[in-house]
Amino acid sequence: MHRINFLLNGKNIEIDVEDHITLLELLRDKLNITSVKEGCGIGECGACTVLLDGKPIYSCLTLALKVDGRDVKTVEYLSKDGSLSKIQEAFIKNGAVQCGYCTPGMLLCAYALINTKKEITEDVIKEAISGNLCRCTGYIQRQYRKCLSGSG
Ligand code: FES
Ligand code: FES
Repeated sequence: MHRINFLLNGKNIEIDVEDHITLLELLRDKLNITSVKEGCGIGECGACTVLLDGKPIYSCLTLALKVDGRDVKTVEYLSKDGSLSKIQEAFIKNGAVQCGYCTPGMLLCAYALINTKKEITEDVIKEAISGNLCRCTGYIQRQYRKCLSGSG
């Protein structure tokens, strides 16, 4: 067991954690941040994405001990005083939220991308969210067919 200190959505957190627990387990099970989802648990779906020092990471693959002294943001950071941020409004307006399971991770990747101040093109957006899978939206039939034909 080790005591760690870190910023979570701008608030200082000091907590004892076991050496083996992941950041995903710390956030969900000990700090009740259930917007961070477990999908695959092996770094493939992006449902567990959080920002660590402003960069998207998979919290299922990150030990809780690693965030000591660092800055962690979850989707709760994006809304202020009960009002949604512009990115959240845009997701709703454009039908990007269906079941919502992937949405926190997608939003955090979009937020991180905007903060890079890169020129934002469709390709840049695709790359930024390429580590986040959505089971409800976003499949292009052509790719799906290719995928099926590749399965043997
Ligand atoms: S739960 Fe972490 S990448 Fe899928
Ligand atoms: S909205 Fe359902 S998984 Fe993306």
